[in-house]
Amino acid sequence: MYVFLGRASNRKCLGGGVPARERPVIVLATPPADARWGLVFHPLPGVVQSVKPLCRVCFVSGTMGLMSAATPPTERRVSARVGAISESATLAVDAKAKALKAAGRPVIGFGAGEPDFPTPDYIVEAAIEACKNPKYHRYTPAGGLPELKQAIAAKTLRDSGYQVDPAQILVTNGGKQAIYEAFAAILDPGDEVIVPAPYWTTYPESIRLAGGVPVEVVADETTGYRVSVEQLEAARTENTKVLLFVSPSNPTGAVYSRAQIEEIGRWAAEKGLWVLTDEIYEHLVYGDAEFHSLPVVVPELADKCVVVNGVAKTYAMTGWRVGWVIGPKDVVKAATNLQSHATSNVSNVAQAAALAAVSGDLDAVATMREAFDRRRKTIVRMLNEIDGVVCPEPEGAFYAYPSVKALVGKEIRGKRPQNTVELAALILEEAEVAVVPGEAFGTPGYLRLSYALGDEDLVEGVSRIQKLLAEARD
Ligand SMILES: Cc1ncc(COP(=O)(O)O)c(C=O)c1O
Repeated sequence: MYVFLGRASNRKCLGGGVPARERPVIVLATPPADARWGLVFHPLPGVVQSVKPLCRVCFVSGTMGLMSAATPPTERRVSARVGAISESATLAVDAKAKALKAAGRPVIGFGAGEPDFPTPDYIVEAAIEACKNPKYHRYTPAGGLPELKQAIAAKTLRDSGYQVDPAQILVTNGGKQAIYEAFAAILDPGDEVIVPAPYWTTYPESIRLAGGVPVEVVADETTGYRVSVEQLEAARTENTKVLLFVSPSNPTGAVYSRAQIEEIGRWAAEKGLWVLTDEIYEHLVYGDAEFHSLPVVVPELADKCVVVNGVAKTYAMTGWRVGWVIGPKDVVKAATNLQSHATSNVSNVAQAAALAAVSGDLDAVATMREAFDRRRKTIVRMLNEIDGVVCPEPEGAFYAYPSVKALVGKEIRGKRPQNTVELAALILEEAEVAVVPGEAFGTPGYLRLSYALGDEDLVEGVSRIQKLLAEARD
């Protein structure tokens, strides 16, 4: 017996003729074709309990429940919750490119979102010293080394003007874990999170894992991939709890102006929403674009604002796995409790390296920014030279996000890619260039190219794409 009635997005249809308070609201954890689980809500206590006997497996608490179809637990190998997570498309593209390379193919990878520079020496030296010191061979407090939290607080004040107490900081295994733990700490089943799309591929998965429901708001190249308050307001419902905000953005490189941030932040504050703001690309902005931290621009949001950041992009430290959450103390405490059971602390040696990074100056990132800026101009120019490609100039991060809608369905070397997954596969096969299809970011019709690779490879890779796509025919 299935207990689901529809998808979250359909739930308004469920209410026909039924008073609002008595409307069953049911949210599927998986798409209808293979739905086995549903999250069930009803505003009146007892109603959800009453459908319990209809289900094989059922967890009910108050007015909500998680219901399954009739598969016996022993026959369910992977849980519905985790089974619904898809592979990280960006990591998958990168892995495929690396495997082809290892097999001797001259593949050029635009897939990975990581700087091609080595971690600066002084950071590596700090890690070497820590390795030699038995103090760093032990566990640290779950929330992170106190001196690192102190240094992160100082760095945050220096870089974005946001004054925080070290007790508001949790050091995590990279920005990814920060996002996961932040959502886990603030979402209850059915809480909606407004996610501007194109979005970084990890956001919806970590929202769903926490029981939340991602609600996409799509912006395209005509607005430089920036959403408006009107769009956000149209997506808001009585279940909306959080707005996800990221500037500079992965995958588009979009940077919101101070005025836009203020408008969005004021709207969120007025509606009582929480905001999770991802500031991991804070130091990678180009031209006239400027980074602004949302809780600094709109200080009244601070009590409901969670900031995510980390060392990966600023200091070329993707492999070291150090990020952090900054938030209100109760939320940070809850997330720290979660981490204490999940992973204990971040590697002590990696924390020592991160301490050197955030305590040092920003010279290394200035050098990287210069190189990225040069590559940004080259890649945008070369992509826009291709018929059927429209690439707005990204103002931050290190990604170009061209629209290739005009090329989908065209014949290229005997094939007719019907979507950008197929087009990206064709580009990999024929041009030996790895790019990530827009489907991974919630917007088919686009490709993401990271320009965090060497100048020569960049020119060679885009030249190959130019040559291949020049063959497109109706
Ligand atoms: C927007 C954004 N946030 C967070 C992260 C997480 O970075 P990490 O987990 O490597 O610290 C990434 C990495 O690609 C990202 O692009």
